[in-house]
Amino acid sequence: MADFVGAVDQGTTSTRFMIFDHGGNEVARHQLEHEQILPRAGWVEHNPVEIWERTRTVIETALNKADLTARDLAALGITNQRETAVVWNRRTGRPYYNAIVWQDTRTDRIAAALERDGRGEVIRRKAGLPPATYFSAGKVQWILENVPGVREAAEAGEALFGTIDTWLLWNLTGGVDGGVHVTDVTNASRTMLMDLETLEWDEELLSFFGIPRAMLPQIRPSSDPAGYGVTRADGPLGGEVPLSGALGDQQAATVGQVCFEPGQAKNTYGTGNFLLLNTGTEPVRSRHGLLTTVCYRFGDAKPVYALEGSIAVTGSAVQWLRDQLRIISTAAQSEILARQVDDNGGVYFVPAFSGLFAPYWRSDARGVIVGLSRYNNAAHIARATLESICYQTRDVVEAMQQDSGVVLDVLRVDGGVTANDLCMQIQADVLGVPVSRPVVAETTALGAAYAAGMATGFWKSTEELVRNWNEDRRWLPQWDDEQRAAGYAGWKKAVERTLDWVD
Ligand code: G3P
Repeated sequence: MADFVGAVDQGTTSTRFMIFDHGGNEVARHQLEHEQILPRAGWVEHNPVEIWERTRTVIETALNKADLTARDLAALGITNQRETAVVWNRRTGRPYYNAIVWQDTRTDRIAAALERDGRGEVIRRKAGLPPATYFSAGKVQWILENVPGVREAAEAGEALFGTIDTWLLWNLTGGVDGGVHVTDVTNASRTMLMDLETLEWDEELLSFFGIPRAMLPQIRPSSDPAGYGVTRADGPLGGEVPLSGALGDQQAATVGQVCFEPGQAKNTYGTGNFLLLNTGTEPVRSRHGLLTTVCYRFGDAKPVYALEGSIAVTGSAVQWLRDQLRIISTAAQSEILARQVDDNGGVYFVPAFSGLFAPYWRSDARGVIVGLSRYNNAAHIARATLESICYQTRDVVEAMQQDSGVVLDVLRVDGGVTANDLCMQIQADVLGVPVSRPVVAETTALGAAYAAGMATGFWKSTEELVRNWNEDRRWLPQWDDEQRAAGYAGWKKAVERTLDWVD
């Protein structure tokens, strides 16, 4: 009897495998980091072979820890860092180039050129995305143009493209011995190549980037009763388990937070922040700098869409305090240091390290620390860093309210930074709405497990999943309106200072 569901969560900095029971409780996990390859300023790569090796190891180790085998798993889900692009050879299984990561800005010229000839408008209308380095299509174009032999191989159907979900599904189901070449609709919606309405690859979008259709995976539901395939018996699970759920990690967290009703939103605090608002079965076009994206599609049901505010640098700003500025030695110390002061002492930090993502989309922005006087110290910088996480979230919430008319009554949060009590209090203060964290904070892996388990009947309905959600902690706003308005005005002024910094 299979009493559990497994989920691989392949993120930007690490890979984890988690096992959940029917109540959505964690049974076991294992996690490993992988190398961040930074060949030049602005370039970020991962080795796809290393990612596959890490995936194998975390699966084997977590199963061993829980003393479980493939027979105990009713289904397996995959969730992943989105947009990151891999191109590999279908016969050898070898990547032609490292994975180009979502944070990589080498394609800024490609992105800037898209605004010409009305292409930007076509992309916004069809894909729901603004031209930016963030999405996969420009990364694939770069590989086709810069790695010898790839274009010919792609045209001949020898070279395959995939986001990380596709790469892992291909390897888990057999790789060169007949692995499936599929992606889910949420991951496809981040490539810039899929039409949001038809949910199919779009010829016009493909032509903008010169991408041959033969290299693209088949687009499937995020929770697929037909299954994408089964794990191969000689793989890391040591048996055949149905692979039936796949979602981009932020969409998975939205499912894990059981935001199944239009108007419900979650905010995940990782290296960056990603706030998704469920907008129901019709895509809502953003006029305020948000992305329109597929939130999930369960089987044949209509797809559910989301508005998304993607923020590039939040948790990684805390890492910057630790690794570059060296004013703390662990991320947790940021809270201790920031608590030494009562407020930011007039200091604002805008960590626009990769330009600014939502709602600004300014690749010419660079980070600033402003408002310094002789009075300020490291504690003010730490406090300003935590505030920057919260103010960037407020920017996105403002845009979301303008686009959708939805006024949040509570913000559901998850991710590493939610362990920072002070940061969550500041978040409630800055937004003026309560902030709520669930008991199971690993909502990303949980969401992928839910998608996989719903497909095989392990869970029968979303109502069942909603019953699994329990609040762990709630932070209530303590600032008055005047304090909130003054703080935000200072932030907006600081953001102005970041713009037009690079040509
Ligand atoms: O869009 C990028 C996002 O999916 C990355 O998430 O958690 O791997 O940093 P994470």
